[in-house]
Amino acid sequence: MSNIARHIAIIMDGNGRWATERGLRRVKGHERGAEVVRTLTTYASNHPEIEVLTLYAFSTENWKRPKMEVDFLMRLLNNYLKNETETYIRNEVRFETIGDIGRFSSALRNEIARLKERTRHFGKLTQVLALNYGSQDEIARAAKELCQKGEEITTDSLGNRIESSRFGNVDLLIRTGGEQRLSNFLLWQSAYAELFFTPTLWPDFTPDELDTIIEDFKNRQRRFGGI
Ligand code: IPE
Ligand code: IPE
Ligand code: MG
Repeated sequence: MSNIARHIAIIMDGNGRWATERGLRRVKGHERGAEVVRTLTTYASNHPEIEVLTLYAFSTENWKRPKMEVDFLMRLLNNYLKNETETYIRNEVRFETIGDIGRFSSALRNEIARLKERTRHFGKLTQVLALNYGSQDEIARAAKELCQKGEEITTDSLGNRIESSRFGNVDLLIRTGGEQRLSNFLLWQSAYAELFFTPTLWPDFTPDELDTIIEDFKNRQRRFGGI
């Protein structure tokens, strides 16, 4: 029996380098990256196995970037959610988020809420955008909540409290852009994920490459500690 890629999570890295290599401003890479999100989401929604596609779009550490780049990313996200509503509807994709969006503008929060509501009945694919997301922060918050309620901390109680665990464990975790690290992404849910690092920069990533990675994943031996 080969592995099923039910939940794929992607660290979309390399936008800035893609642009810099072409003598463009970094934000041009983010623009192109957003187009790849659309292409990949459409592809995943038509894939027979993929149920959840979690995409790392903005980390709790990304606020350290120059204000101009952060502002651009917020505008890009807002426009993306507005302009791509049809893509979600046409492909029957449910839109979800993880991370603390409380720090975003109210206009952006409204846009996020609108698209979630508009797509909540769809079931071909759930696309989860990780926005102001940090895994350590999320785990600490879950532990704090259990303590405040006087509940015991066990693997199950903590795991169930973690906001993003409602989408289940990650089967296949991909990082584009050549770095081989997790950068605080889904640490709990990736305990037994298969990891795949590709040098391809995110704006150059294609459904064909995803297919190749899934084929590789199918042949990996997942043992989960057994033999
Ligand atoms: C990933 O691309 C997108 C975000 C983190 C928002 P980067 O912007 O990190 O691109 P590089 O790593 O600098 O090339
Ligand atoms: C990880 O990329 C975050 C996202 C893709 C949103 P970074 O570019 O921020 O990660 P580091 O700083 O290289 O670890
Ligand atoms: Mg990067």
